[in-house]
Amino acid sequence: MCGIIGYTGHRPAVPVVVEGLKRLEYRGYDSAGIGFVQNQDLHVVRAAGKLVNLEEKLASLDVFLATSAVGHTRWATHGAPTESNAHPHRAGSLCLVHNGIFENYEEYRRLLQSRGHVFSSETETEVLTALVADERKPGLPLLDAFARALRKAHGAYAVALMDQSEPDAIYAARRSAPLLLGIGAGENYVASDIPAFLPYTRNVVFLEDGEIIRITPSSWQIFSLEDLRPLPKSTHHINWDMQSAQKGGFRHFMLKEIFEQPRAIADCMAGRLNAAHTAVVIPELESSPLPPRLRIIACGTSFHAGLWAMPLLEEWARIPTCVEIASEFRYRNPLLMPGETALVISQSGETADTLAALRIARECRCPTLALCNVVGSSITRETDAVIYTQAGPEISVASTKALCSQMLVLLLLALYWGQRRGSLPSGFLPEALQALAALPAQLEAALPALQTEARALAQKYASVAGMFFLGRGQSYPLALEGALKVKELSYIHAEGYAAGEMKHGPIALIEPEFPSFILVPHDSLFTKSRSNLEEVQARGGPVIALTNPPKSDLNLAVPQTWIIPDAWGPLKGFFFLPALQLFSYEAATRLGKDVDQPRNLAKSVTVE
Ligand code: AGP
Repeated sequence: MCGIIGYTGHRPAVPVVVEGLKRLEYRGYDSAGIGFVQNQDLHVVRAAGKLVNLEEKLASLDVFLATSAVGHTRWATHGAPTESNAHPHRAGSLCLVHNGIFENYEEYRRLLQSRGHVFSSETETEVLTALVADERKPGLPLLDAFARALRKAHGAYAVALMDQSEPDAIYAARRSAPLLLGIGAGENYVASDIPAFLPYTRNVVFLEDGEIIRITPSSWQIFSLEDLRPLPKSTHHINWDMQSAQKGGFRHFMLKEIFEQPRAIADCMAGRLNAAHTAVVIPELESSPLPPRLRIIACGTSFHAGLWAMPLLEEWARIPTCVEIASEFRYRNPLLMPGETALVISQSGETADTLAALRIARECRCPTLALCNVVGSSITRETDAVIYTQAGPEISVASTKALCSQMLVLLLLALYWGQRRGSLPSGFLPEALQALAALPAQLEAALPALQTEARALAQKYASVAGMFFLGRGQSYPLALEGALKVKELSYIHAEGYAAGEMKHGPIALIEPEFPSFILVPHDSLFTKSRSNLEEVQARGGPVIALTNPPKSDLNLAVPQTWIIPDAWGPLKGFFFLPALQLFSYEAATRLGKDVDQPRNLAKSVTVE
């Protein structure tokens, strides 16, 4: 995610803001910038790449008189990570920094261009800045103009704004993206996250959605965005040290990222539903024909995402789909059919095997499409089209929210291509979109209880020598993922297997010391999965049944059932997945493993 910091007070603002941006670097970014007013002039300095590039530019300027500034580290979503796309963006005497997604910016870009505005970047943030400037009228306070513009903006935002004519004031607001007020002595801060100003103050006000704020060195006022009525707010004293502040109070980045999955789902959907939320829109594919066949190629967890989506792509969009492990695909002479689209999935966009497989597909003259989380990464620069998962940077080596976002975008793709083909049953799309709209809040509500149950199971099973994860249909790739997470985090041998395959050999492994986590969702394969559970139980193997309510449907006194909240159709997977992630997390922490940096692993496998 992008990082924002605004400072107004008695210190030289530019170094305060740059240091604050450095403390937000862990959030991941690919460009940075700062805006400040000095000698009644508004200055904006930006640089692509790391903060050191911005510092080099600032070093040649006299920037120490300014006592207020706004700064930004950008995690590119729309538009490449270039200096021209970096924030702050300007419009007249205004400069603005933004974290989030301005969904309906195209309509306002066209409107503002019709009013003579010329844009110099690809970003929606520049449009938002111009929209604020466009709302300004003689005698109208900037707060009102800012609020009017924000009421028109759809999507998630945390924004901070400065005006040349009010050098010591900073305006800020949020909707569905974090923004905090830091209260100092004769100085005040706004920021995306506490680390930005933690060395200066521990007195914090957490802004809520629909709130807008004006700060000066000696004052802060929070208003309702809707009608600008002043809002009373309480302050909080933060006791965290810097590192726990970067984890948002979570013990590990992995846990933080598991709990960010509802946000990742919402961000994935942003801009991918039409205004009426009655259809899926994938602008990146509007001009591309429907693929006659799909070859999904990926590694590790990303491979599991492809396996999970395969039945949806075939059933909803009627596209024959084959899913391959990149390191296998690249070393055989694959037979790719004319027009077969190679869809490569990679969180990092740097995985060597996946990149090599992509190049083979291109040599075979396949149309290529990337599903990726890192803008401008190697893979995204070599495919015909890219769909970004918009999950924000994933710090922990173990992939969690990235997989969740990959599954979500693949599900949207299956709906989108099904829409275009006309192969969705009547009434199906509204039902799916309604379920998707409710998913983030439902998952948010379910996660704490899932963690509690995961912790209890980890206490019971973290010391075993090995375990099975079994599933059928879309639960099979989830079982593979559950096993992978246990392997890579707690170093316990765990095997994911197709439940229907147990009778073909693996069931010989079953014994009282060898537990089996069996996914038994209330889907079309429920009775088959239940039979597999009974096969294991009949041979004395401990079974942990992950299933939807009611528990009675298992009709056996299964000693250990984990009730997973039910959801519409394939959305069940978005509740089974965090359950499996949390079990592996709790097992690893119980065993004292290095959760965020497991041994032998790298976040991006850029070697064979
Ligand atoms: C996920 O927990 C693993 N760290 C690993 O399997 C990862 O998914 C794999 O290396 C692929 O990475 P990518 O998505 O960046 O291509």
